[in-house]
Amino acid sequence: MNLFLIGFRGSGKTTVARVLAKRLGRDLVDTDAWIAERAGKSIAEIFEVEGEAGFRLLEAQVIAAVCLESDRVVSLGGGAILNDANRSHFKASGWTVWLDARPETLAHRIATDIEAQGQRPALTDHPLIDEVRAVTSERRPLYEAVADHHVLTDSLEPDAIADNIIAHFPRESVA
Ligand code: S3P
Repeated sequence: MNLFLIGFRGSGKTTVARVLAKRLGRDLVDTDAWIAERAGKSIAEIFEVEGEAGFRLLEAQVIAAVCLESDRVVSLGGGAILNDANRSHFKASGWTVWLDARPETLAHRIATDIEAQGQRPALTDHPLIDEVRAVTSERRPLYEAVADHHVLTDSLEPDAIADNIIAHFPRESVA
């Protein structure tokens, strides 16, 4: 069984996935990194050249391939839940954790994330906080529909988030 991390940009998926992979002794897959490697371009360049639709096609291919594997910790892009087939893959091949936070927290983390600076194409023409509010409220029902577990991360450090996830991860998957 794979352990999938979903949630909006800034929810901590990449950092928490690294902690979980180490603590569970599992391989880590970051779908955005895999997409960029396959395309030979950054995510921002893929959006620029092929548009969001082109990116979503590549994302669906990579997710279908990842879901053929097992026992991975998988960090997904924030919009991976938009595609019906992706959501069915998560349900069929793993256990899915939704990392959630208030829009103000997400916007603050996005604005101060040095590692991802320049890597995140804008999703709307609105200022960051308005974009986060609008897109998270659109996506919330999809995150809710696919998540087996939900963690509110506003005041939690990555280690505490990992503790929470490991405590709830179905036992046969940890063994
Ligand atoms: C996206 C989130 C990004 C990346 C792409 C689209 C989105 O991943 O997949 O820029 O639609 O929310 P992160 O959530 O890891 O930043």
